[in-house]
Amino acid sequence: MARPKINSTISKVISLTLFTLFLSSCYYDNEEYLYPDNGSNCDTTGVQYSTDIAPLMASTCNACHSAVSPSGNIVTSDYNGIKTAIAGGLFWKAVNHEQGATPMPLNGNKLAPCELARIKAWIDAGAPQN
Ligand code: HEC
Repeated sequence: MARPKINSTISKVISLTLFTLFLSSCYYDNEEYLYPDNGSNCDTTGVQYSTDIAPLMASTCNACHSAVSPSGNIVTSDYNGIKTAIAGGLFWKAVNHEQGATPMPLNGNKLAPCELARIKAWIDAGAPQN
C-alpha cells in the first residue's frame, strides 16, 4: 500500500528540521577552531603586489602610512614606498615583530601568520610590482 502523501510531507519537514539542527550544532566546528591558522596550510604561491600586498596595506597600514605625512617617514600606500622600507630592512622586522623595529601595525594585532607568510614569499621573490 502506498504511503499517504501527508506522511511523506511530514517526514520531509522532520528530516529538514533535524538536518538544520545538525547543521547549527556544527557552529563551533569552524575552520579557525579546527585548524588554527599557524601559517602551515597557507598558500604562498602567486602572491602579487596588486591583488595581495596593496589591499593588505590599504586595510592595515595606510591609515598611518599614506604618502601625505606618513608616520615614521614610511609610506605603505604606494609601491615605491614599500620597496624603500623593504630595502632598508625595517619593513619585515616591523610586521614580523622582530627586534630592531617598532612592531606594526602600531598598537594593533600582529598580522595573521598566513598574511606574514605571503608577505615573506613576495619579498623573497624580489618584491615585484606585479
Ligand atoms: C596606528 C598607526 C599605524 C599603523 C596602523 C601602522 N603604523 Fe607603522 N608606524 C607608525 C608610527 C607612528 C611609526 C613610527 C614609530 C617609530 O618609529 O617608533 C611607524 C613606523 C613604521 C615602520 C618603521 C619602524 C621603525 O622601527 O622605524 C615601518 C616599517 C612601519 N611602520 C610599517 C607599517 C606596516 C607595514 C603597517 C601595516 C601592517 C603599519 N606600519 C601600520 C604608525 C602606524
